[in-house]
Amino acid sequence: MTELQIRRTRFDFDDDVPFVWNPGNPAFSFSMNATSIIAICFEKMIVAAVKEALPQISDTAIAAEADAFLRQEAQHARAHRRHMQALIKTYPGLQETLDTAINHYDNLTATTPLAYRLAYIADLEATFTPSMKLMLDNEALLFKGGDDRVASLFLWHFVEEVEHRSSALIIYDAVVGKPWYRVRVLPSVVKHLGEVISIIANGVNDNVPEGDRGVDAGSMMRTVQMRRAVRRWLRLEAPDPNATRPSYAGIQRREKIIAVVNVLLSQTPFHKPANSPLPEFAERWLARYQAGDDVWHWYTSELAGKDGNRG
Ligand SMILES: [Fe+2]
Ligand SMILES: [Fe+2]
Repeated sequence: MTELQIRRTRFDFDDDVPFVWNPGNPAFSFSMNATSIIAICFEKMIVAAVKEALPQISDTAIAAEADAFLRQEAQHARAHRRHMQALIKTYPGLQETLDTAINHYDNLTATTPLAYRLAYIADLEATFTPSMKLMLDNEALLFKGGDDRVASLFLWHFVEEVEHRSSALIIYDAVVGKPWYRVRVLPSVVKHLGEVISIIANGVNDNVPEGDRGVDAGSMMRTVQMRRAVRRWLRLEAPDPNATRPSYAGIQRREKIIAVVNVLLSQTPFHKPANSPLPEFAERWLARYQAGDDVWHWYTSELAGKDGNRG
C-alpha cells in the first residue's frame, strides 16, 4: 500500500502577495513564481495522464500509489493557483501568461500518446529530489526572511515531491516499462519545458513593472545564464557588475555541482529515486506536521513556538 499522505492545507493567500516575496533574493523570488505557474500546468497534465493510465494498472498497490500521487499533485496545483490568483490581482496581465502556459501543456495532453506523457512526467519528477534537496538543504538562505505564506507553500510542496519521488517511475514502469524510451524523449521534454519557461519569462517582463520584479525575467532563463557562464569562462564576456545577484549565491559550489550531477544521473535509464540522498529538512517538516504545528506558516509559527517556550 502507498505511504503517501494527502494533507489538508491551510494557506492564506487572500491578501496581496508581493512579486518579490523574498526581498533579499529577487532572482529566487522570480524563479519560484515561475515554478508556481509550471506547477499549475504540469500538475494538470499529470492528473489527466495518471487518470488515463489507471485503468491499465492491474496491481492494486501500484494503483493506490498512482491515485495518491495524482491527489497530491492536484492539491499542489490548487495551492499554486491561489498563489497565482493573489499575484494576478495585482498584475492582471499575468492571467494571460498563466492561460498560455496551461494551453501549452493542454496541447501536449491532447496531441501526444500516454506513453510519451508518462515518460515526460517520470523524467521531470526524477529531477526534483536532487534539485529540491539543494533548496531544502539551504532553506534558511533561500526561504527564511521572505513572505512566510509563499515560503511555506514551496517548503510543503518540495517535501511532498521528495515524499512521492518514486511514484512517477512506478507508474511509468507499470504502464510503459521501456527504460530507454524515457531517455530518448528527453530532448523533446527539455525543448517543451524551455518553451514554457520562455512564455513565463516574456509574460512576466510584459506584465510586471521592472521596479516590482527587480529582475529581467528573460536573463533569468537557464539557457541564457548558461550561455553567459560559458562566454565568461572563455573570457569572451566580462562579468557584469550590475548583474542581479544569482538565485543560489551563498550556496557552496560543491553542493551545486553534486545537485547537477544527481539531476543528470536521474535521467539515466535504470535510475532508482528510492536510493536518492534526501534532504534532512523533509524529516524536520514531517515531524512538525505530525506534531500538529502550523507548517502552513513555517517560520512565523516556529518563532512563536520558541517565544512561547521561553515564556
Ligand atoms: Fe507537485
Ligand atoms: Fe510531483
